Amino acid sequence: MIKPISGFSKLNKLEKIEWLIKNSFSSNNNVKNILQQYSNDDAKLQKLHDEFAENTLTNFYLPFAVAPNFLINNKQYTIPMVTEESSVIAAASKAAKFWLDKGGFKAKVISTTKIGQVHFIYKGDFQTLNEYFEIIKPKLFSDVISLTTNMSKRGGGVKDIQLVNLNDQIENYFQLKATFDTQDAMGANFINSCLEQFSKTLKGNYEDSSRIEIIMSILSNYVPDCIVKAEVSCNIEELKDRSIINPMVFAENFVRAVNIAQVDKYRAVTHNKGIMNGIDAVVIATGNDFRAVESGAHAYASKSGSYRSLTRAYVKNNIFNFSIEVPLALGTVGGLTKLHPLANLALEMLENPNARDLMKITAVAGLAQNFAAIKSLITTGIQHGHMKMHLINMLNKLEASDKEKEKAINHFKTNTVSHLNVDVFINKLRTND
Ligand code: MEV
Repeated sequence: MIKPISGFSKLNKLEKIEWLIKNSFSSNNNVKNILQQYSNDDAKLQKLHDEFAENTLTNFYLPFAVAPNFLINNKQYTIPMVTEESSVIAAASKAAKFWLDKGGFKAKVISTTKIGQVHFIYKGDFQTLNEYFEIIKPKLFSDVISLTTNMSKRGGGVKDIQLVNLNDQIENYFQLKATFDTQDAMGANFINSCLEQFSKTLKGNYEDSSRIEIIMSILSNYVPDCIVKAEVSCNIEELKDRSIINPMVFAENFVRAVNIAQVDKYRAVTHNKGIMNGIDAVVIATGNDFRAVESGAHAYASKSGSYRSLTRAYVKNNIFNFSIEVPLALGTVGGLTKLHPLANLALEMLENPNARDLMKITAVAGLAQNFAAIKSLITTGIQHGHMKMHLINMLNKLEASDKEKEKAINHFKTNTVSHLNVDVFINKLRTND
């Protein structure tokens, strides 16, 4: 068992690495080299990274890729995407190209309200609490003016505060439920700071403050009123391409596939996972909080009481329609967005969008990803494309040379990709050489 350590964060980087090698590795082998290899030579940049998180030892790299040819509201974008999954970028790019000559994607922001709560216990009757809340409400707003001034100048701020009675669910449990407009910021820090001040004002001004016990003050990552919609549509005949021989059959099966994800949660989770392949990749590339987006999206997928698809598809009057509605609390200022050099670059690539435009672009990436996945699933099957992309990973694991890779890629154009087959193929090449 590892002896617990106190003051680990106070050690310098080398001391931390040495402690780690001593306590978590059976041999010193290559630990230090690997950690140093992924450290940046540029000391200033590395210091910036080190300060993003406590106890940073090095950097964990993921591919920063781009998917070109996205036409969104008649404007063309190359979308930055960060993901480790081989097929995601190829799928996004293919879907973008597919819709490019069909009018592209249309997207609109439906709402941008975010929510935060002060959870508290009040030992007394609700009517008295409610009367107190009505009296204190203007002060709740005025006490956060120093926090909200800048946000107000940009058109945002605290929109409303309500008192919620949840006494029937947990004894004496109430909430201040506040709504916020955080403009181009994701707004977590702004919301949480306001909430903490609300809790002080709420408790501090009550004549017998011991009756109010603040449990916690925190934003909600469930943002059903911060919604963006993206869609594509075209005449059924226009769907025809190399893998879509019969567009009508394709459209019908596509709609069925989406409907299956509406009624069956096992399929819905995988279906939505595919959507998040696209969404997360943009969220990460632009320095946003993918955990917040993930939890919010999945909660929204369950808003009916059952977990369902985030996308919908239907055919009407010979037109194929496919759309997504998803909550996306994103920022283009604050957080890491401008601080992380690559997030900053990603935003510049998108022509420095405001949060609303980034919501649209991100929703489109999710819709495109879902389109590509379903298209493959109901035509060639997913493994066709997946294993082709995964082949390179397998070859790299076998430390294949460029020449071996070239031969393998050629061979597996017409042969089934599997670990065993790739292994056998490379071994054969090596014994014949
Ligand atoms: C794989 O990462 C994502 C898919 O499974 C999504 C789906 O099944 O719709 C291909």
